[in-house]
Amino acid sequence: MSDLVQLTKDKDVAIITINNPPVNALGPGVPEGISQAIKEIIRDQSVKAAVVIGAGRTFIAGADIKEFGKITSGKKDRGAGLLPLLREIEDCPKPVVMAIHGMAFGGGLELAMSGHYRVGAPGAQVGQPEVKLGIIPGAGGTQRLPRLAGVAKAVEMCAQGNPVPAREALQLGIFDQIIEGDLLTGAVAFARSVLEKPAPRTRERNEKLGVSEQNAALFAAARQMARQKQRGMMAPLAAIEAVEAATRLPFDKGCEVEKKLFNDCLFSDQSKALMHVFFGEREVAKVPDIPKETPILPVNAVALVGAGTMGGGIAMVFANAGIPVLLKDADQPSLDRGMDVIRKNYASSVKRGRFTQQFVDERLQLIQPALDYDDFGRVDMVVEAVFEGMQLKKEIFSLLDRLCRPGAILASNTSTLSIDEIASSTERPEAVIGTHFFSPANVMRLLEIVRGKASSKEVIATCMQLSKKLGKVGVLVGNCRGFVGNRMFGPYRREAQFLAEEGASIEAVDQALYDFGMAMGPLATGDLAGLDVGWRIRKEYRHLEKPGTRQPFSEDRLCEMGRYGQKTGAGWYKYDENRRPIPDPEVAALLRKWATEAGIPQRTISPQEIVDRCVLALVNEGARILEEGIALRAVDIDIIYLNGYGFPAYRGGPMWYADTLGLHKVCDRISEFHRQHGELWEPAPLLIRLAQEGGTFAEFHQSQDVTAA
Ligand code: 3HC
Ligand code: NAI
Repeated sequence: MSDLVQLTKDKDVAIITINNPPVNALGPGVPEGISQAIKEIIRDQSVKAAVVIGAGRTFIAGADIKEFGKITSGKKDRGAGLLPLLREIEDCPKPVVMAIHGMAFGGGLELAMSGHYRVGAPGAQVGQPEVKLGIIPGAGGTQRLPRLAGVAKAVEMCAQGNPVPAREALQLGIFDQIIEGDLLTGAVAFARSVLEKPAPRTRERNEKLGVSEQNAALFAAARQMARQKQRGMMAPLAAIEAVEAATRLPFDKGCEVEKKLFNDCLFSDQSKALMHVFFGEREVAKVPDIPKETPILPVNAVALVGAGTMGGGIAMVFANAGIPVLLKDADQPSLDRGMDVIRKNYASSVKRGRFTQQFVDERLQLIQPALDYDDFGRVDMVVEAVFEGMQLKKEIFSLLDRLCRPGAILASNTSTLSIDEIASSTERPEAVIGTHFFSPANVMRLLEIVRGKASSKEVIATCMQLSKKLGKVGVLVGNCRGFVGNRMFGPYRREAQFLAEEGASIEAVDQALYDFGMAMGPLATGDLAGLDVGWRIRKEYRHLEKPGTRQPFSEDRLCEMGRYGQKTGAGWYKYDENRRPIPDPEVAALLRKWATEAGIPQRTISPQEIVDRCVLALVNEGARILEEGIALRAVDIDIIYLNGYGFPAYRGGPMWYADTLGLHKVCDRISEFHRQHGELWEPAPLLIRLAQEGGTFAEFHQSQDVTAA
């Protein structure tokens, strides 16, 4: 037997242990090892039953995702997949009991369902998360799951991909028993208790497959839900179709339908993009010059300076992770307002069933409002979130430098200002770092961690690890204006405005990007964030603009009219009392008037041009960021855009999307815009180089580390 699969015996019960750390994925050697073990069990007269169990922290997390890349690139043939093995297990004349702890996901659950029984530890979870990778279950999951759990639950699990906890798995009939105490001992005892019974084969159980009238309504509702909640994704619809086949066709025919749909999904750009995202989310945690062994500083008590929009949200993030927070503001009314918003946000979470009242009460206990700095000497980390102004930030950091204990981390939530300049106001620049949360901080998953020139490795490693504890995806970026996300967002939103000034309607601009998959159109996003934010920043940085370069003007004019977006009830759109956008003919007329006055020719603009102008503006700036080493890898930029800016995950992020189009094509299109629209569109040198070499952003590795620009 291989090292990956071990066969041992407890008297008359054989034990197959899968040992492929870290998550027992069904990589090369594992299915072969299980098949060999089943053959041996059939042969061995002394064996009456078998238990299959995972070594280490889990049962089986699924097929080995890395193998899919080899198949789609033609380096490996998929062959028959896992189906023959699962039939071999199911046809084993001796009962096979699957003993599940940790996770039985994807191929892991499919394998478990081929056993005659499943027993689980109380903390176990089962799921078919394949849709999150842009594929569907490919080893009979869409055919066996409805037979075990019923059609409605199978559709939900296969189309949405969310895990089901052990108790629910028991109620659904996926588990036959929950084992308290030692799982293996319990599973072996369970196996002995079923020796005399006929072993049920999941594929032959049809009693839960329902009747066609009921199923039709169920599938229609599932499809509608998938179109709304997983907009633009093909896998959820394919998963529904495959489960539907289970209700209409015999098992083997259903498996054929599943196989075809699985292959369609596997060879799609969507699944390649989503697998890139899966590995990318894990890769961003790895920083080449910061080894795993870097000491981590304790963060057991935190202080926030500024209880506004961001400070309040960040305080909730820490409290939710169980870390006590001092929340300081300059005056009582601001502090009261901040605490009120926090209470309201928590109350609405209770109302929506996200948190219990008890959880919220405990969290609120952890947030201590303050008007002075008296207790700052005892905290491990301070996050500053006052107004965006360098002078004010420097004053605060110089004060923190005097008040905080040596070793405390001093972080700023600034969205544009230089971390190095802020750090220069202290005697300990090594303790200073940017922790750029996104609004609303308690909801958005992204945390840009901004490395200053002097930020110490310990401080960086601590913030990277902390991001996980806070439920965020931390991405390390270099120090430059706007860092990665906002620096790229500038050209993106600039182009959206230009398009509106050139004749595209506001709604057409937003619709084109929404149809591309963005969570919201760029102009509506501006209204949501507040147009005045960018307006103030532009006024501050106007002296840096190159004279003679075209600048958008319409948003500034809207701000001059007091149209700041949703908060003033009007911006690009008008808003009703429920903050629903309504197209405003006044703005449309003004745009035409302003454009005529500025001598901008008006023309019809296609949705494709709108998408290219906005998305390729992101890509071109992303290429500069990559070349400058502000982002460590292209995937870091992608993860930032997926988690902070509503970029569709099934397109993999802006840099992956560009790779998918082909950098030669991207470079040609950007060069065309350069000729048409001038120097703002100068192609990034890295893009030109990679296009000429036939390279990709994904393969580009910058030799330098992320450092201050
Ligand atoms: N294949 C290959 N590698 C995998 C893997 C898989 N299915 N699941 C996890 N890994 C790797 C991760 O990339 C990571 O590698 P790294 O240490 O080199 O970065 C390592 O295992 C540990 O994973 P996590 O850091 O994610 O560990 P967590 O404990 O946070 O999470 C998990 C564990 C919940 C299992 C999570 O890894 C996960 O969701 N994995 C994917 C599960 C999945 O999608 N399964 C379906 C696969 S497709 C399939 O089965 C098709 C079938 O129908 C034929
Ligand atoms: P805000 O205006 O909502 O809140 C700022 C708070 O700081 C106010 O409550 C104010 O009273 C308080 N404050 C001002 N001076 C202070 C002082 N000396 N001591 C203590 N408190 C003081 O601002 P917002 O939006 O929360 O922004 C804060 C920071 O976060 C800024 O640097 C901003 O650029 C950044 N940021 C903002 C995002 C957003 O979407 N609003 C997103 C990401 C970062």
